[in-house]
Amino acid sequence: MKIIEIVADRNYRVVVGANALDEIKAITALHRRVLLIAPSNLIKSFKIKESKNLSIIGTPSGESQKNIRVLESVWRKCSAIGLERSDAIIGFGGGATTDLAGFAAATWLRGVDWYAIPTSLAGMVDAAIGGKTGINAQSGKNLIGSFYSPSGVFIDIKYLSKLPNRDLSAGLAEVIKCGFISDYKILNLVQDDVLDFEKLISRAVKVKANVVAKDFKESRIREVLNYGHTLGHAIEKDSKYKLRHGEAVSIGMVYAAELSRELLGLADEIVELHRVLLGNLNLPTSYPKSRWSSLVDLLLKDKKVKQGKVRFIGLSKIGKPVWLEDVPSSTLTKVYERITK
Ligand SMILES: NC(=O)c1ccc[n+]([C@@H]2O[C@H](COP(=O)([O-])OP(=O)(O)OC[C@H]3O[C@@H](n4cnc5c(N)ncnc54)[C@H](O)[C@@H]3O)[C@@H](O)[C@H]2O)c1
Repeated sequence: MKIIEIVADRNYRVVVGANALDEIKAITALHRRVLLIAPSNLIKSFKIKESKNLSIIGTPSGESQKNIRVLESVWRKCSAIGLERSDAIIGFGGGATTDLAGFAAATWLRGVDWYAIPTSLAGMVDAAIGGKTGINAQSGKNLIGSFYSPSGVFIDIKYLSKLPNRDLSAGLAEVIKCGFISDYKILNLVQDDVLDFEKLISRAVKVKANVVAKDFKESRIREVLNYGHTLGHAIEKDSKYKLRHGEAVSIGMVYAAELSRELLGLADEIVELHRVLLGNLNLPTSYPKSRWSSLVDLLLKDKKVKQGKVRFIGLSKIGKPVWLEDVPSSTLTKVYERITK
């Protein structure tokens, strides 16, 4: 078991290697009443049961729970069970569930305690860490939300054995990102024949924890976590969300590495290492040439655009992120050619 302390709007612990069912019992012992929010299919397959002071609300799975309709059903449940200020919410599931649960906790009675029990790798290393909570708006993903840290995050690795390989690889893309921006040892660990998930998750969580401690509300430093995400988000949208977030970020990282080679002199072998590590996990590293004009339109609409300029995070070497803020469009187009298929 590994414990990582997070310093943010409130300080809390991430326990990697926890036993989720024991933690649920411990949380219910701490509060008068607790509401656990989880996708209905996971409640069934992971045998989560109500108890005297633990109520459960089942949600649709995946992104379809991150909307005002489902949030309203959570608020109604809070009201029905009389959830008070000193009570708590648990988000149990993938990143979509912990985002929803955290935002329900941020908004019910102007804020109640909440705990995250992430069950997907993306949730464990990314979504449940860092205090961003929220739902989607009609007009776009994650547009409604709040920075609202949990009181604890409990990572039970046994749930990963039920996760489809494709989702596992998508989560590993974010782990590899942490390796490139900050912790080169991760890049060795992902090449092992048998992956040590407890180690990989702990190291990735530490990278995110260090960044969040310096810049909770993403004024600048936290943007390093967006390595691969500028083009990644555009690709995710362009694929109409057929590509997983981590898959789109995988392509975005190769692009960011190629941009870094062009503008920052990133060594050829580091650029190649992106393709090797991501490719070994069956993650995509290229995208169709014909999609460039659509991607440019999407890039200009991105949240990361400031005063009409698209911002990328690049690397001068492993562990040394650099902001690329004013890249000529001719360079963006030229570099895109290198990642096309
Ligand atoms: N708050 C943040 O900082 C942050 C960061 C990154 C991503 N996110 C959000 O996280 C979401 C993506 O996370 P995700 O990939 O976990 O998505 P998800 O929650 O949609 O989960 C993907 C699917 O896997 C299922 N699942 C979860 N755990 C499982 C397990 N152990 N076994 C079998 N199936 C399981 C889920 O029910 C779902 O169907 C997006 O909504 C994204 O916006 C948030």
